[in-house]
Amino acid sequence: KQKNKYRSEWECPSNIALVKYWGKKAPQLPLNPSVSFSLKNAKTKTTVEITGSSKWQTEFLFEGKLSQFGERIQKYIDELANDEKWMNDFSFRIESSNTFPHSAGIASSASAFGALALCLADLKKQVTGKKAETQNFFRQASAWARLGSGSACRSVYPQFAVWGKFDEMPDSSNEFAIPVSENIHPDYFTLHDAILLVDSTKKKVSSSAGHQLMNDHPFREARIKQANNHTREILKVMKTGHHEHFFKIVEKEALSLHSMMMTSEPPYLLLHPNSLAIIRKIQDIRRQTNLQVGFTIDAGPNIHFLYFEKDKNEVHRFIKNELLKFTENGSWLDDQIGNGPKKL
Ligand code: PMV
Repeated sequence: KQKNKYRSEWECPSNIALVKYWGKKAPQLPLNPSVSFSLKNAKTKTTVEITGSSKWQTEFLFEGKLSQFGERIQKYIDELANDEKWMNDFSFRIESSNTFPHSAGIASSASAFGALALCLADLKKQVTGKKAETQNFFRQASAWARLGSGSACRSVYPQFAVWGKFDEMPDSSNEFAIPVSENIHPDYFTLHDAILLVDSTKKKVSSSAGHQLMNDHPFREARIKQANNHTREILKVMKTGHHEHFFKIVEKEALSLHSMMMTSEPPYLLLHPNSLAIIRKIQDIRRQTNLQVGFTIDAGPNIHFLYFEKDKNEVHRFIKNELLKFTENGSWLDDQIGNGPKKL
């Protein structure tokens, strides 16, 4: 096979969960369904080149330099190649870069594995000459992204996605995410996510350790039930545009995620005093004005402040005057709902 014949380049966004994935079973299948939207600005751009037919070896460059992340990528490629025989003939050269600072404490695994999986799905098409239907192409990419990092499987779609078997949605699956942007109230396509960076130090307990702790969690079954109920409720609310109810579910989910951590064996805390200060301020402004806003939180101390486009000026004033003093050096990223990945 000719050198440098096959090459693929994709850009893929990160996503933020409204209903949280927390807890998994092998092989990286979720305990509960989750709902998210893709971001616009926080993206990873990845190029994968097939460099020859010599015994496969992965070279991984992040922002131009050989990266320690390379080991995880090598392991990922090796595992994928167990099922994907076409991969065994090749070596891969992967180059990747993010549009957001990697030191900020923003998880980049969703956009990173999203972009990598899209490139690999594309290369499979090139190498085997088999065209996949669009839906199948994205399902394949989503399933491969999932094997790298669970939440990554939701990043391969524009706007809203659901991952995990959910009884009321026959198309839903534990293996891949599906797009769910149809019939959603137009307001939700104007969502913004101001990511308030509270603490960028490396977290003490990783997400994978956190997922593990759900196995014997005393509230495991209740959490699974709650996530299913929230998935049903939020998808219904998002059809009607009842924003108060929407934010109620979103905030319950964020707090529930962190209460799972606080009640694990052993328990742990990822929230920072400033995370709580920001939450209080958001609750205050909602009481004092009629702004339709809310927060969500990932597995870390940063607060994702959600608001609608129509309120942008007022919200920005509020962030600058009241919230940035609780962030690390005043740092925040102003992101919003986005149109999903792009082939370059
Ligand atoms: O994809 P992972 O294994 O990093 O899990 C992250 C899960 C949360 O971000 C906390 C929630 C979610 O659904 O994205």
